[in-house]
Amino acid sequence: MSTLCSGMLGKVLVVLLVSGLAWAFPALLPPPPRICGSPDGPTVTGPRIKLRYGRHLAYKEHGVPKETAKYKVVYAHSFGSTRYESAIASLETLEELGVYVVSFDRPGYGESDPHPKRTIQTTALDMEELADQLGLGPKFYVMGYSMGGHSVWGCLKYIPNRLAGAALVAPVVNYWWPSFPANLSTEGYNLQLTQDQWALRVAHYAPWLVYWWNTQKWFPYNSVLSGKLKMSPPDLEVVSRSAKHANEMQKLKEYAVKQGVFESLHRDMMVGFGKWDFDPMDLKNLFSNGSIHLWHGDEDWVVPVILQRYVVERLPWINYHEIPNVGHLVMHDPAMKEVIWKTFLTGEKEQIVQS
Ligand SMILES: *[C@@H]1O[C@H](CO)[C@@H](O)[C@H](O)[C@H]1NC(C)=O
Ligand SMILES: *[C@@H]1O[C@H](CO)[C@@H](O)[C@H](O)[C@H]1NC(C)=O
Repeated sequence: MSTLCSGMLGKVLVVLLVSGLAWAFPALLPPPPRICGSPDGPTVTGPRIKLRYGRHLAYKEHGVPKETAKYKVVYAHSFGSTRYESAIASLETLEELGVYVVSFDRPGYGESDPHPKRTIQTTALDMEELADQLGLGPKFYVMGYSMGGHSVWGCLKYIPNRLAGAALVAPVVNYWWPSFPANLSTEGYNLQLTQDQWALRVAHYAPWLVYWWNTQKWFPYNSVLSGKLKMSPPDLEVVSRSAKHANEMQKLKEYAVKQGVFESLHRDMMVGFGKWDFDPMDLKNLFSNGSIHLWHGDEDWVVPVILQRYVVERLPWINYHEIPNVGHLVMHDPAMKEVIWKTFLTGEKEQIVQS
């Protein structure tokens, strides 16, 4: 009896497994990206440079002309965003301070060619090459917001001698950076929704499953991708205040993934939460002039502030600005973002005024 039962159970399991695989397998593989500018792909709508290995990088210039600028900044956008990210200071501020900013679509996003071998290092080198092809001179500033923070950590590691300064705004942490005490990263990790913990695990341990995981409809996947982000009260307020731009924002979201979600969003997760070649907390202090800044809101529910505090404790040469009652959408608060840009470039410690 018991053998029969287990025999039948075994058969049922085999049938389930085989039909499950047959159903899942075609969906495991992402479709090839629709390369921008190729005959079947979307058209190119703005300027691009051709990098040394042949990839194109789309960029957008803001502020005063680079020839007369006092500050030249290369800006790296957040997850699911583009070179049009609204985190760049107003033209008024850029002109007042004499700032030139070049933002770019990170590889695979918008109109920049995908880079299937993308790493933290390759994007840092892309930023250096962008600066060089545009003739920004021997030193420039870099700024990265949220997932764009990874690119800035990459610049600090791989091209520190090219930097005049750097700003990390609500930069995403990787729970597997070895310097984090296990109990602390577990605590931060457990603050995430269960579905996001799974999305992170898949990105870290099973990158081959990332496409399927984040496109299947059987169980909840990454809350950012599914638009079900658990937002802190200050973030909800930012969202409600920017509701009038919802149409515009939707268009930008579509622009971000017009070559497909895999080489943009999913590659970002694999690179960001995969195994890094270095641990930012091991970086040596090469900047004693206070030109490296990190901002983080204490109501950020996307990137746990407890982990960020640990990072800056290990790197005391970073100018840390913790902002009370502010969430992850700090750069979408128009007043806050101006203060951040001004403090970053002029070093003046302005009081952040709650709007
Ligand atoms: C700060 O120091 C670094 C390292 O010496 C240097 O590369 C950078 O240009 C300096 N930045 C400013 C704004 O002086
Ligand atoms: C982690 O463990 C260390 C030492 O064992 C302790 O000092 C610290 O408070 C713990 N942190 C958390 C977040 O539990």
